[in-house]
Amino acid sequence: MKRNKLSVGQKFLLLSISLTLITSAMTVVAEEIYHEKHRPQFHYSPHQQWMNDPNGMVYYEGEYHLFYQYNPYNNIWGPMHWGHAVSKNMLNWEELPIALFPDNHGAIFSGSAVIDWKNTSGFGTTKNPPMVAIFTYHDHLAENLKQKTYQTQGLAYSLDKGRSWTKYEGNPVLTSPDIPDFRDPKVSWYEPGKKWIMTLAVKDRISFYSSKNLKNWTHESDFGQGIGGHGGVWECPDLIKMKVKGTDEEKYVLLVSINPGGPNGGSGTQYFVGDFDGKEFVLETGFSELLASDVDTSPELIKDGIWLDYGTDNYAGVTWADVPATDERKLFIGWMNNWQYANKLPTNRWRGAMTIPRELQLVKAKQGYRVYSVPVAEIENQHELLESNENLVVKKHLDVTKALGLDTVTQRTTLSVDLQKAKVLRVIVENDKDRLIFTIDRNKKQFQLDRSASGIVDFDSMFSQIQLAPLVDDVGMFTMDFFVDESSIEIFVNNGQTVFTSLLFPESPYQRVLLETDDTVLLKSAVGYGIEPLWIK
Ligand code: FRU
Repeated sequence: MKRNKLSVGQKFLLLSISLTLITSAMTVVAEEIYHEKHRPQFHYSPHQQWMNDPNGMVYYEGEYHLFYQYNPYNNIWGPMHWGHAVSKNMLNWEELPIALFPDNHGAIFSGSAVIDWKNTSGFGTTKNPPMVAIFTYHDHLAENLKQKTYQTQGLAYSLDKGRSWTKYEGNPVLTSPDIPDFRDPKVSWYEPGKKWIMTLAVKDRISFYSSKNLKNWTHESDFGQGIGGHGGVWECPDLIKMKVKGTDEEKYVLLVSINPGGPNGGSGTQYFVGDFDGKEFVLETGFSELLASDVDTSPELIKDGIWLDYGTDNYAGVTWADVPATDERKLFIGWMNNWQYANKLPTNRWRGAMTIPRELQLVKAKQGYRVYSVPVAEIENQHELLESNENLVVKKHLDVTKALGLDTVTQRTTLSVDLQKAKVLRVIVENDKDRLIFTIDRNKKQFQLDRSASGIVDFDSMFSQIQLAPLVDDVGMFTMDFFVDESSIEIFVNNGQTVFTSLLFPESPYQRVLLETDDTVLLKSAVGYGIEPLWIK
């Protein structure tokens, strides 16, 4: 075959044209990532593939670390690694290379990380304390062979701010007695006993273990059999010492994720309030009876637990370790998803996102101790106040977006309403085709979230079900803080007393917020904010 020979000049020209084409193609790809349809703009999601639970959340030298359950090979759940991202403000994230890979003990399931300040583990020095990850090994091979002890706990450490990791050669450090569900260690330092406490999910209970060096663990006690929600297996616990808001009183809050058996189906996170003495968690006297007073109002909503979030999509959330003592906040992030349909979400390059970071507050409410969730204050630094309006009388109907002089739904909308004699208020978030309805129903003493016509809903039948929460302490005044991203809404009612986190997949962005009511109400204030995309960093 005869070929045309190219001169050196022609070859050079061709080469530089191809290089230009390749570089510009790469630029196009880079620009497209993070701007795909439904890609969250102010919630963390990995640049590609599957993500579930947040793991190893620890603060060190100015960085919040977020590790997470990650499958680098596919956009569905699979062989688990720990993905990794860092941020200075919990909002602008930089994705780093994968931190932990599976090894001969198994895949890397959920767990936590701590800074071992006193170098109790000997992995570092007191001058350069190790960052230690404590995680569950899941041995798929042993599981297939029907062995019972396929979940064990392992350690890895980093001496360079989480950038590189060494697995401990003595792994695993804790093996299950003979219960297969034995996972998700959350470790924290217990100062009065000068020891580490591991809070571990063991099927239908939480087991507490203690250790002086993170390597040798002693079983201390169990909590939870027959108490609280048991519609599914217990997972991803967190034991948090909290000050009761506005006082110096201290209590321990135990978060327990459960799947299925959540308040509105599938996954959910319940909590317990009590005391902890380094050995045992003792439930606050009357905590279950206090729960019963909620039950009086709407028994079907409670499902035997007290829930952190009534939306279907906040799971496996825990708090950051080692937040500086000067910052007394308990900072939380959850996986914005539900195992019921997590593998079927209509996204492609990536699948899975985190909630916005929240501060958990322990409040002594009328019904007893309650955990409220509020968006972290750092969000206000990413804000732009777009428009606000005050004291609007709503006679059955108001287009809030128009009243604000806007033509689209803002990322954050804060509404404060005095319902007066009205019994029902509906907040509708819609475009010409899709609509989402959030209802305050004082007759039924309920909040309702209806996403059945919010966009793409047909990938799972549960996705269209109405989500309910009990309406307690009704004094007729409500503040509602709505965060609307490309594929989610988070609603914080009355300063985080009731929260709904919910995924949404509208065909096109929502354009309007409307109010509808059965009587005249006063919209005391309406504020619309824009939130900077987190990818700009
Ligand atoms: C919770 C969970 C954990 C487990 C991990 C596996 O969502 O089931 O219990 O460690 O996910 O990816």
